[in-house]
Amino acid sequence: MARRQDGQGPEAAVAGIAPRLLAWFETDGRKDLPWQRRPTPYRVWVSEIMLQQTQVATVIPYYQRFMKRFPDLESLATARLDEVLHLWSGLGYYARARNLHRAARNIVAEGNAFPGSLEELMRLPGVGRSTASAILALSRGERHPILDGNVKRVLSRHFGIEGDAATNAVEKKLWALAESCTPAEDVARYTQAIMDLGATVCTRSNPLCLLCPINSSCVARLHERQDRLPAPRRRAERPLRKAWVVIALRGPRRVLLERRPPAGIWGGLWSLPEFPTRAHAEQWCSEQLSGASQPRKDSPLRHAFSHFDLEMQPLLTRCVGKSAQLRDDDRYRWYDTANPARLGLPKPVQELVTRATAPSQSVSRGARKRSK
Ligand code: ADE
Repeated sequence: MARRQDGQGPEAAVAGIAPRLLAWFETDGRKDLPWQRRPTPYRVWVSEIMLQQTQVATVIPYYQRFMKRFPDLESLATARLDEVLHLWSGLGYYARARNLHRAARNIVAEGNAFPGSLEELMRLPGVGRSTASAILALSRGERHPILDGNVKRVLSRHFGIEGDAATNAVEKKLWALAESCTPAEDVARYTQAIMDLGATVCTRSNPLCLLCPINSSCVARLHERQDRLPAPRRRAERPLRKAWVVIALRGPRRVLLERRPPAGIWGGLWSLPEFPTRAHAEQWCSEQLSGASQPRKDSPLRHAFSHFDLEMQPLLTRCVGKSAQLRDDDRYRWYDTANPARLGLPKPVQELVTRATAPSQSVSRGARKRSK
């Protein structure tokens, strides 16, 4: 831990955090988020899973739609996965939705109530120690320290913790600090306060130190090391993957979708038939959509995943009469854009489908130009 210049030892610095954060929370914290109203363990669980890797402003409308459709564990457990993925479409990291659904099914199948202990919660797929602690702290006020990305940043800066936060040694130090800073009372408000501080004041770049309630004892600020703490992660190369996708159109509004395998990227969601090369895509068209129009290239679309970029290169083809021989089944579906089924559709797929079925895009009326 770096030396402080304010004459305080680390114990005094730890003891001072909770009162100052709680006072700041009263004036500046977020107290009216949808999951803070009636914060049952179920509602907080769903919110914490949605908030993994996703910002509050993005999550709110998804959370509201999800809660309207799945107000409790039973409604989630009995839903079709397609319906769950439908309500998750656009939020990304779809393993989170599959895990929520699987966990809800398991809990209900075992006839149990929602898990009540940290250990039980941590056994749910997708729930680590910090998420389990947040669920119990926010819904029941139980004293469990949390250590999500925002809290790691606040603690690393405040206590001058050097080194890569992904290593075990640094994580261990941060958990110990999280534990000692968490007060005996007011745990729910404290937990929300430290997350809010990280999200709104102690931000990764350009932190608003003048507004910070614990700035007077912050090692990073005293040593002007806010931009070096926490230690920036080494940026891995982001590879670019390319895939050819077939947009097979039928009538003015129908597009052929194919369900992705259950695990992996976009697992269980509906996408466009995808191929490694143009030749593979064209061969598939001639075998499966015989008699369809000659596929033609449309403009590609790039999508950023966490560890790589995907460039989707569409080939547009129109099916008429017998060329649309594929039937709706578990794998393929003629998706009606005017009357869309409730399925999970990744955002870029939705975008390509919308683009291809927009009135100005129709390949049957080839004379019309696509507007820019
Ligand atoms: N990030 C994770 N959990 C959060 C919460 N409860 N409020 C705001 N941001 C969060």
